[in-house]
Amino acid sequence: MPLVCLTDFQAYAQDHLSKSTWDFIEGGSDECFTRDDNIAAFKKIRLRPRYLRDVREVDTRTTIQGEEITAPICIAPTGFHCLVWPDGEMSTARAAQAAGICYIISTYASCSLEDIVATAPRGLKWFQLYPTSDRQLNKQLVQRAEALGFKALVITVDTPKMGNRRCDFRNQLDLQRNLLLKDLRSPKERHTTPYFQMSPIDSSFCWNDITWLQSLTRLPIILKGILTKEDAELAVKHNVHGIIVSNHGGRQLDDVPASIDALTEVVAAVKGKMEVYLDGGIRTGNDVLKALALGAKCVFLGRPILWGLAYKGEHGVEEVLNLIKNEFHTSMSLTGCQSVAEINQDLVQFSRL
Ligand code: FNR
Repeated sequence: MPLVCLTDFQAYAQDHLSKSTWDFIEGGSDECFTRDDNIAAFKKIRLRPRYLRDVREVDTRTTIQGEEITAPICIAPTGFHCLVWPDGEMSTARAAQAAGICYIISTYASCSLEDIVATAPRGLKWFQLYPTSDRQLNKQLVQRAEALGFKALVITVDTPKMGNRRCDFRNQLDLQRNLLLKDLRSPKERHTTPYFQMSPIDSSFCWNDITWLQSLTRLPIILKGILTKEDAELAVKHNVHGIIVSNHGGRQLDDVPASIDALTEVVAAVKGKMEVYLDGGIRTGNDVLKALALGAKCVFLGRPILWGLAYKGEHGVEEVLNLIKNEFHTSMSLTGCQSVAEINQDLVQFSRL
């Protein structure tokens, strides 16, 4: 049977991955309230379509940080793709390049940055940094990403320490041991990714350190994980170039708002001074349209990319991206939008539920 929606890929992945890998991907923190709310919150928003408009030609293209993408649907950083498919992030990067969208590569990628760039040299790539307590290492990583042609630096701010992922505790999942095994297989890698991956995240990283990072690189800096107007205002004050409204797919602090519910507050606070993006719970083309209507310039997919990867590697990710791009095209047509610029808040209303 063909897979016709993103949740079909989810079901396939659940059937074919080991229990501990599936739980690692799907899990949220604590009671998984926020993980589930990310999806439920989209369902409280209704669309207000406009008809009798010419939608023969619908253009899904847009830009992020000045770079064109074929649709406002890109790939969020997720670690350890080799758990899901043998050449992991290299497959993901080729699929992103073929789709003409941006891929944010995680600090915890299981392939080296050099290999990822070599396999998909033309794709738009941003680098996601978990700042480690080793400053020299942070500097090296940032400058290495810049030299390799990454176009932006994404700093994940919601992880001063790992959230409580109960499933991973129950499964006694030991990612460090996995990485060490990989390290033994590939001596060259010992100097690159695994070393970074095993460095602890810096729990003392704060706003002053953003200024320090800015002194190291000309890349635009995007903060991932901002959820409040107070932090959004500080982001403006610190001259960062963008915010990804995100709760880490409900894997960090539980009981925070769904991403889509936090979006409006952040968009209002930045007053158009930077681009605002969103990730968390995007599963359909309508979700993409709702996020854009509420002020996101683009959305990012986390788990659905891993489901595609589990299905057929590079081609599975391509299928996931094509499917949601087509759905978004339909959503635009059926709400009367010829271009992404026409998507605005008049297209949505909040249901009484
Ligand atoms: C993540 N996420 C994440 N974020 C980040 O900044 N760096 C990372 O290395 C990871 N790793 C990671 C692994 C896995 C398995 C998941 C599911 C998530 C969070 C990710 O970027 C994003 O915020 C969420 O996944 C978005 O929610 P959805 O699309 O999964 O609902």
